[in-house]
Amino acid sequence: MMFHLKFRSCLPIKRILTSFALLLATVSVVDAEPASDDRQASSRLLVGQYAGELKSALLAAMEQGGPAKAIEVCRDEAPRIASRLSRQSGARISRVSRQHRNPAGMPEPWQREVLEQFSQQLQQQSSAQNGLEFFQADGRTERYMKAIRIAPLCLSCHGADLAPEIRAQLQQDYPYDQASGYQLGDLRGAFSVVWEPRP
Ligand code: HEC
Repeated sequence: MMFHLKFRSCLPIKRILTSFALLLATVSVVDAEPASDDRQASSRLLVGQYAGELKSALLAAMEQGGPAKAIEVCRDEAPRIASRLSRQSGARISRVSRQHRNPAGMPEPWQREVLEQFSQQLQQQSSAQNGLEFFQADGRTERYMKAIRIAPLCLSCHGADLAPEIRAQLQQDYPYDQASGYQLGDLRGAFSVVWEPRP
């Protein structure tokens, strides 16, 4: 009964909020300026697409030629997919890590700070859901990051116990590799999406 009453009394407020939201939506259409949370949604979609394409390329390569073949895919395909999605969207999409394999994955200072926050959040809630995110909009630029954690699939190339042929190939391709020794669930790095400043 209490719940029923409460629910009914909320209805008019809901209606007011809805018309207000509609009004805002109309204004932003007239303005032709996408709201900053659109950018957050677009960032999420981009990261979803990047992660999805990477994963299927990785799985296909692992199936065809094992991890040694898949190293090539990570090396060649990951940057290719990232630059295609960046061209298509106008945002700069990349993967960064404090212990990077490719020096191109070295984080900028703001990205390093977000990675630090992610890792603290994970320490506080060790079995945390996998969706750690960051979004910042200051009126001109928008920046988004999403944590990447180690799954079983990743261990053959980022784990502690690498097969000798994998270790050898990684040493050859990435002499400054810092991206092994991880355990399941560890923070591996993050996807990053940076939008061009608005004019
Ligand atoms: C077949 C080996 C292999 C597997 C499996 C693999 N990776 Fe990688 N990973 C690599 C290589 C090689 C690079 C360097 C790619 C480059 O040159 O851009 C890399 C780079 C990365 C980077 C970019 C930052 C950096 O260190 O350069 C992230 C993040 C990453 N891997 C996460 C993962 C995750 C998460 C998984 C599991 C879902 C995974 N990787 C599975 C080989 C692998």
